[in-house]
Amino acid sequence: AAVGKGNYRHFMEKELHEHPVVLGDTLRQYIDPASRAVALPALPFDPVAVPKISFSACGSAFIATQVARYWFEQVARLPVDTDVASELRYRDPPLPEGGAALLVSQSGETADTLAALRLLKSRGQHVLSVVNVPESTMDRESDGTLLTVAGPEIGVASTKAFTAQLAVLASLALGFGRARGTLTAAEEARLTAALLEVPAHAAELLEQGLGDMMEIAREVAAARDVLFLGRGSLYPIALEGALKLKELSYIHAEGYAAGEMKHGPIALIDASVPVIALCPSGPLFEKTASNLQEAAARGGRIMAFTDAEGAPALRRFAERVVVLPSVDPFVAPILHAIPVQLLAYHVAVLKGTDVDQPRNLAKAVTVE
Ligand code: AGP
Repeated sequence: AAVGKGNYRHFMEKELHEHPVVLGDTLRQYIDPASRAVALPALPFDPVAVPKISFSACGSAFIATQVARYWFEQVARLPVDTDVASELRYRDPPLPEGGAALLVSQSGETADTLAALRLLKSRGQHVLSVVNVPESTMDRESDGTLLTVAGPEIGVASTKAFTAQLAVLASLALGFGRARGTLTAAEEARLTAALLEVPAHAAELLEQGLGDMMEIAREVAAARDVLFLGRGSLYPIALEGALKLKELSYIHAEGYAAGEMKHGPIALIDASVPVIALCPSGPLFEKTASNLQEAAARGGRIMAFTDAEGAPALRRFAERVVVLPSVDPFVAPILHAIPVQLLAYHVAVLKGTDVDQPRNLAKAVTVE
């Protein structure tokens, strides 16, 4: 049956509101809520024996693999390589015989990702895919598939499929950690519990409305350039914020690792460039906050997304602070993905661009 917009103005708005359900449905596939243990299907490679894993994807799906790299390193102590599929397919990387590869795609039909899949297979790699469309070409050609349960995503800008990819990749990283003995049972229970709480936090965030969000959207809509900053697993979310804003509102945006700003982009900072900061509390909070303070000292106008613990310190210099529900730092990138999507959505509506079908873009890029 054809998918409708319901009472929403755009498919994207509807899909943003599906986050809680999609995250819950996806997590229940890979985590047993009763025992709080990861329950993965059989994988095409042995998590204990693999020396490293090669990730590849395009666009937002590639950004999901960049978040996953932090998770796999942290909990599974496994080296991860990730590269955009259009680069990987021509890079000729040395690959171990019988190595492990993981590809991520909403559509399962993206030409470059499919080409990377075929290349990796032809080089003797065992390919696992995370896809949203069952029976898509990537699902059929992979040695194993982990499905995201996001349902059809009509808006060209990926929203619920992206967070569902993160949910699968986080569960997979925890499963690897347990299999490899790098994660204690207590840690596994703590982190799976944190993951299982994400759908409720996503609902809370969508229902409560986000304080200064509309003011930030107005500032961003009036800007020519926007900088997104984050550290650690929030750095890829800064990239995602910039990608979403570009594709939906046609405003130039860049995502940067907060600590890298002083190596170049800080030269851009003045009152006309809003700085969107992703800065939840956690081990990297102080470092990120001090980078933001440096930007503020140079006239930068900081608009920060944080939690109740981080808000007081950021309020000392940030122009606007949006407080998200407090979560374990492990799951913070999943929760922070939602406000950056919402921001891009509101800016696009203010600018009057075609939210569901931005110019020059296709939902699935099936040509090279
Ligand atoms: C995201 O908002 C984009 N529209 C785009 O980057 C997308 O994620 C990319 O084209 C990959 O598509 P896929 O997940 O279907 O492979």
